Amino acid sequence: MMDSRSVANAAPLVGKAAADNARDVALIELVGLSKVFYTDEVETHALADVGLRINKGEYIAVEGPSGSGKSTLLSILGLLDTPTAGQYTLNSHSVDKLSAPERARIRNREVGFIFQSFNLIGDLTVFENVELPLTYRGMSSSDRKTRVQAALERVDMAPRMKHYPSQLSGGQQQRVAVARALGGDPAILLADEPTGNLDSRNGEAVMDILHELHRGGATICMVTHDPRYASCADRTVHVFDGRIVGPEEAKRLTENDAKLGRRGFDTAR
Ligand SMILES: Nc1ncnc2c1ncn2[C@@H]1O[C@H](COP(=O)(O)OP(=O)(O)O)[C@@H](O)[C@H]1O
Ligand SMILES: [Mg+2]
Repeated sequence: MMDSRSVANAAPLVGKAAADNARDVALIELVGLSKVFYTDEVETHALADVGLRINKGEYIAVEGPSGSGKSTLLSILGLLDTPTAGQYTLNSHSVDKLSAPERARIRNREVGFIFQSFNLIGDLTVFENVELPLTYRGMSSSDRKTRVQAALERVDMAPRMKHYPSQLSGGQQQRVAVARALGGDPAILLADEPTGNLDSRNGEAVMDILHELHRGGATICMVTHDPRYASCADRTVHVFDGRIVGPEEAKRLTENDAKLGRRGFDTAR
């Protein structure tokens, strides 16, 4: 695979992304964030006192053992879930006290999600899957068509526009999911183990697309257990037992877990 850093540095950023990057503008700021799940009298502290800043144009990898809170973190970043405590500022706006419809509206406009299991809708075509989030925006059908086509071209899936997900390979489905995430021109792309269900060739193809988007100025936060892919990012955030820890502590805790024969990292299912 290509050396991410040299590629990223070689690529000139354009317009607003370049201006924002030059100023280290925060897109996301979490302060003292925690999440507790209450189920059947069991309390799970999925996140504890998490602080995190992601600047515009940054590419962040999130690593950690299975069950450490990575998906919970991404769900909160993507406004799919709410924290139990703490502050979340997205694009200079506090999103803590928003109503559910306001959260949905911001999610639709600012966030593009890519999941391990693609999450395409089986009885919609490729075109319709990518179009769906745009239909919630009151956009004209011709504007939607232009956007969908452009997004599908970016992932090289325009020729399959009329196919259904079941007629595509896993790698192709994930590329459509990337197009769906891109179609709305989001402020951030959140990817949760996007290569987890793909063989290495298709995994690399998806990673190359993310790479290219980052070079074009996209802000990306990606959960991955694959160190090769984590090294594509500008920075890795290590999550352990719901806390963000430094690289040395992550290494120590990982070695300790291995010694105790505890916990594997998430693997493809
Ligand atoms: N909806 C939920 N209800 C109850 N517990 C949950 C829920 N989602 C996640 N958890 C628990 O929170 C912890 C963190 O989960 P998760 O964020 O999915 O970890 P990861 O993505 O790192 O594997 C786990 O102990 C998990 O069982
Ligand atoms: Mg997860």
